[in-house]
Amino acid sequence: MVEPVLVARGLNKQFRSGNQPVSVLSDLSLRLDRGESLALTGRSGSGKSTVLNILCGLEQPDAGRIEVLGEAFDSRTQERGHQAEARWAKLRRQQIGVVFQEANLMPALSLLDNVRLRARLAGQNDDDCRDRLERLGIGELAGRYPDQVSGGQRQRAALAMAFAMNPALILADEPTGSLDRHTAEAVTRQLFELQARHGCSLILATHDTELATRCSHHLDLGHQPGS
Ligand SMILES: Nc1ncnc2c1ncn2[C@@H]1O[C@H](COP(=O)(O)OP(=O)(O)O)[C@@H](O)[C@H]1O
Ligand SMILES: [Mg+2]
Repeated sequence: MVEPVLVARGLNKQFRSGNQPVSVLSDLSLRLDRGESLALTGRSGSGKSTVLNILCGLEQPDAGRIEVLGEAFDSRTQERGHQAEARWAKLRRQQIGVVFQEANLMPALSLLDNVRLRARLAGQNDDDCRDRLERLGIGELAGRYPDQVSGGQRQRAALAMAFAMNPALILADEPTGSLDRHTAEAVTRQLFELQARHGCSLILATHDTELATRCSHHLDLGHQPGS
């Protein structure tokens, strides 16, 4: 039997806009097996980033249950907030690589040291970090600081960091959204190559329908039941 990497059931999330509650997710369920990829699409404001934030514990759903990599989180249990947060933090450190819109690089570290730090925090060997940057086409920038490279180059460094963890699951939020077409294609190709090589699962929020067709599954948040 195929082991699911992630199962989410009945996720609900509301935000307040002024005094009005606005429902962003309504009874959302999804499942992802090992090595599979899922594209989350939908117009701006449809909740893609909210789903990714919930699936790595950076935001809490109002209701719902998530099982990810053997850890279960249920909004109905009375688990104290900091205990759940510690379990999420461990998952993000060791097993869930996040590539978010603003690449989270440490400004005081070179690109190479950012990748090495990420590998070490995940308990991985950091010997091949320079190779990772080279394979992503930014080897010659290894010694530069994040503010000395372009947005596309920072995005590639963020990918190198995520894969240096050797994660079981990668969550990528519009990883090519701020890139020109040519760079976006190169980064996309690298993303899928790395995913295949590592055999990890991938959830990708994207506006790009062409990119979505390259994933094993596709969920359009514009067409959620109840929306
Ligand atoms: N922290 C927040 N407080 C209030 N509203 C929020 C917050 N985060 C997101 N929203 C709202 O939730 C909706 C979904 O946002 P988001 O998940 O960022 O969508 P997407 O990534 O698809 O553009 C939007 O209407 C947004 O304004
Ligand atoms: Mg978003």
